[in-house]
Amino acid sequence: MPRDAGSLSLGLDLTYALDPVAFATDRLHFEPDPWQAGLLRSNARQIIENITRQGGKSTSAAAGALHTALYDAPALVLLVSPSLRQSKELFGKVTDFLKDLQPAELLEEDNRSSCTLANCSRIVSLPGDPKTIRGFSAPKKVIVDEAAYVEPAMFTALRPMLAVSNGQLILISTPNGRQGYFYETWQHGEGWERIRITARECPRISAEYLEQERRELGPLLYSQEHDCEFVDPDSSAFSSALIEAALVDDFEAFV
Ligand SMILES: Nc1ncnc2c1ncn2[C@@H]1O[C@H](COP(=O)(O)OP(=O)(O)O)[C@@H](O)[C@H]1O
Ligand SMILES: [Mg+2]
Repeated sequence: MPRDAGSLSLGLDLTYALDPVAFATDRLHFEPDPWQAGLLRSNARQIIENITRQGGKSTSAAAGALHTALYDAPALVLLVSPSLRQSKELFGKVTDFLKDLQPAELLEEDNRSSCTLANCSRIVSLPGDPKTIRGFSAPKKVIVDEAAYVEPAMFTALRPMLAVSNGQLILISTPNGRQGYFYETWQHGEGWERIRITARECPRISAEYLEQERRELGPLLYSQEHDCEFVDPDSSAFSSALIEAALVDDFEAFV
C-alpha cells in the first residue's frame, strides 16, 4: 500500500475508533437515528432506554457491540436477550454487520451466538437465563435487549460482574408493566442516563400504521408498545396510579 493510502486508512481508523457514529455510517452502512447516535456515543456507565416497538433497539445494540469489540480490544461484549430465539436473532444482526466489514476482522464464529474477532475481542449473545453467564468475566459492555422481559436473577448476576470490570451496562426495552428491574430502574435508578423514544418520534413508523395499531391493541397496550408507558398488566377499573394516590397520606381530603 502506498504510504499516503496507509496513513489515510490509519487516520480513518482513528476517526472510527473515536466516533462510533462515523463507524456505523461508513463501515456498517447504518445511519443511526439521533437517539441511536446518542447511545453509540455515550460514555455513561449505566444507560436505560425506553423505546417503542420497532424503534431500532436491536440494531443499535448490535452496532454498539461491534464498535466496542473492534476499538476497545481485547473486549468481552455480552448481549443479553429474554430468550434463546431472541439472542440468536440479535446475534444475526451482529453477523449481518460483520459481513460489511473486512473478512479479516472475524476470527471465528461458533454456534450462531458468539464470535471472536481477529483482535481477540469476543461478542457473546446470551438468552436471559442467569446460568448462561457463569464463566464469563470482566465484560467491557453488557447490552440487555428487551430488558423489561428479562428475569430479575439475570441482573443480580450481572451487576457484581460489571462492578469488577467497570464495564458499561445498557438496558434497552419497550415497557412491560409497572414491575421488575427495568421499571424500577427507569423510575428510581440513580446515576442512569435515560432516553425515551415513542413511535411517533421514529421516522420509519407511519401515522397510518399507528392508527391501525391503536384500533387493534386498544388504548392500554398501545400506550405500552408505542408510547413508552408503563401500564398495569391487568388494569381495568383501577390503575395502580389510582391505588397509589388512594394510599398516600398527604392527599387533600374531600369536603
Ligand atoms: N437508523 C436506522 N435506519 C434505518 N433502518 C433502521 C434504523 N434502525 C433500525 N432500522 C430498521 O428498523 C427495523 C426495526 O429495527 P429493530 O432494531 O429490529 O427494532 P426493535 O429492536 O426496536 O424492535 C429493522 O428493519 C431495522 O433494520
Ligand atoms: Mg428488537
